[in-house]
Amino acid sequence: GKGEHRHYMLKEIFEQPQVIGDTLASFFNPTAQTISMPDFPFDLATIPRITIVACGTSFYAGLVAKYWIEQYARIGVEIDVASEFRYREAPMEKGGLSLFISQSGETADTLAALRYAKSQDQHIMSIVNVPESSMERESHAVLHTHAGPEIGVASTKAFTTQLTVLACFSIALAKAKGAIDPTLEARLCKSIAEVPARVTEILNHDESLRDIAHSVAEARDVLYLGRGASFPIAMEGALKLKEISYIHAEGYAAGEMKHGPIALIDESVPVIVLAPSDSNFEKTASNTQEVVARGGRVIFMADKQGCEKMADHSMASVAMPDVEPFVAPILYSIPVQLLAYHVAVHKGTDVDQPRNLAKSVTVE
Ligand code: F6R
Repeated sequence: GKGEHRHYMLKEIFEQPQVIGDTLASFFNPTAQTISMPDFPFDLATIPRITIVACGTSFYAGLVAKYWIEQYARIGVEIDVASEFRYREAPMEKGGLSLFISQSGETADTLAALRYAKSQDQHIMSIVNVPESSMERESHAVLHTHAGPEIGVASTKAFTTQLTVLACFSIALAKAKGAIDPTLEARLCKSIAEVPARVTEILNHDESLRDIAHSVAEARDVLYLGRGASFPIAMEGALKLKEISYIHAEGYAAGEMKHGPIALIDESVPVIVLAPSDSNFEKTASNTQEVVARGGRVIFMADKQGCEKMADHSMASVAMPDVEPFVAPILYSIPVQLLAYHVAVHKGTDVDQPRNLAKSVTVE
């Protein structure tokens, strides 16, 4: 049941420290403080290229992994949504790794894409939450998220556990490829091990996010901006808001604003900016100032130092823990989930069962 929580979605958001920890436990060795993978029927060290395919929220998890794998493991990653990938007859290099991400393991388009990749002599790996699912049965290798049953139609804990698996996989891949030195590897492993505790801290912001949500609930359009691995989180934040509050929202790469979307900005448009302290911070901050100069109402999500730098420009800010940039996408998922949740509750929508949506999309 929902226990003390008003909705399954809220319960599932608050379960994240636990289920991220459960998921981590299958890869993290607490004594050695290292990450390891099960044995695969192929050699990670010789993978020439990776293709990631998924739908919806699972696709955004894959997009974060593209940033991680390219940066740390130095392997090229192609990524597409399954409904496009399955029909576009993509040429695939023999021996490549194809990675399918799915909470249900049954999404029709993702399964069809998996079968296509298999016909192209790819190593097939899937990341699924539901054991024994179709995707699991048809894959050469499987990594499980341990999110437990997800009842809310809007995915929350499945997403952050997918990111957890993908973060561990990226470290293992980087190590197998000899692409990272032991110092960096140790730092990444430490940062991922601390994620459950950091998520707990962020969940304490629940009330301030509820206040911010009330100011967003009146908007007709909302923009979410991020750069690098925060860009997929911006899109995920926008998707969460659309699906449960029915407010139109878009996630944009912050650097793309001046190529069009900045024309939308006026006093009525809340702009949620995701700006962890990484090598992109200054650029995102300057894109934020451009938004403010056009009257946009900025809600700035950054660590304490970042929030202070932008205090004069933000309508509101959300102070995040100061963490290794590697794990920022996992942590910044939490406030965007809570924001969408509180907007939807304020509007009185059916949070756990939004109109027109099904939990598992087994038809195309
Ligand atoms: C959004 C959401 C959907 C799913 C998508 C893929 O909150 O839940 O976008 O992520 O339908 O589903 P799975 O992961 O089961 O393949």
